[in-house]
Amino acid sequence: MAAQHEQDTQNELQQLREREQARAFIDREATRLFAPEDEALRAAVDALSQNDMPAIQVSPLQGRLLQVLGAASGARKILEIGALSGYSSIWLARSLPADGRLISLEVSEKHGAVARASLERAGLADRAEVRVGSADTLLPALVSEAPFDLVFIDADKPSYPLYLDWALKLTRPGSIIVADNCIRGGAPFRPQSEDSGATALGEYDRRVATDPRLLSVVLANDEGGMDGVAISVVLTNEMPARSEHA
Ligand code: SAH
Ligand code: DHB
Ligand code: MG
Repeated sequence: MAAQHEQDTQNELQQLREREQARAFIDREATRLFAPEDEALRAAVDALSQNDMPAIQVSPLQGRLLQVLGAASGARKILEIGALSGYSSIWLARSLPADGRLISLEVSEKHGAVARASLERAGLADRAEVRVGSADTLLPALVSEAPFDLVFIDADKPSYPLYLDWALKLTRPGSIIVADNCIRGGAPFRPQSEDSGATALGEYDRRVATDPRLLSVVLANDEGGMDGVAISVVLTNEMPARSEHA
């Protein structure tokens, strides 16, 4: 009896290890095939450790997804909130035509300088700009530069709902809004979190999933499926008038 239970446990563990190995293999090979990093992208990653910055950039496959979405929407103007070392900025800017524009908002003076250097090294300084300041103070000035064809939200998590309000103001029907970290190990889906970031991400997820102005999906595409991006297409920027009978 006990021996059988021990055997079952061992088999189960072995299967879990094999799944984990297969997952790592798939991730490595898919990255190699679809999202190989060139020198400029590797330099943006190296800049993190060199400047004592956290390695919380998007994965190569997520970066590639951002580039694909930019190209698919024919983006000419992109807004990013949260530049870090400019890693995702490079992927995004690479979806732009030569006369396109990426504006990336970054609260840290140091991160902003590192991101600018990364974009310069990637030969994208002609179309990509980093503005230093807190996004909530910089966003109002962007009204005159709207509409943006793609907005990528990846900064302080408690502000995600606020950034969604701004994204809806700064886009047009057909624009795409992407937000990172919308799964975070499931925390946003659990009720009553102690973590204000998880609570705000939950609000973000619920809003993009149900807002009639948006058509959205969440993709488990990071941390072995434990994290991922929410992707929304803007159907309309106007809140539909509520039916009198509803
Ligand atoms: N998008 C980057 C990672 C961003 S990490 C990449 O994938 O390469 C989050 C960044 O948001 C950090 O650099 C942090 O300094 C910045 N940030 C945090 N709060 C912010 C705010 N209020 N306004 C603008 N940027 C902010
Ligand atoms: C954190 C932030 C991110 O945007 C991310 O992708 C991963 C981690 C963080 O603040 O810990
Ligand atoms: Mg992130």
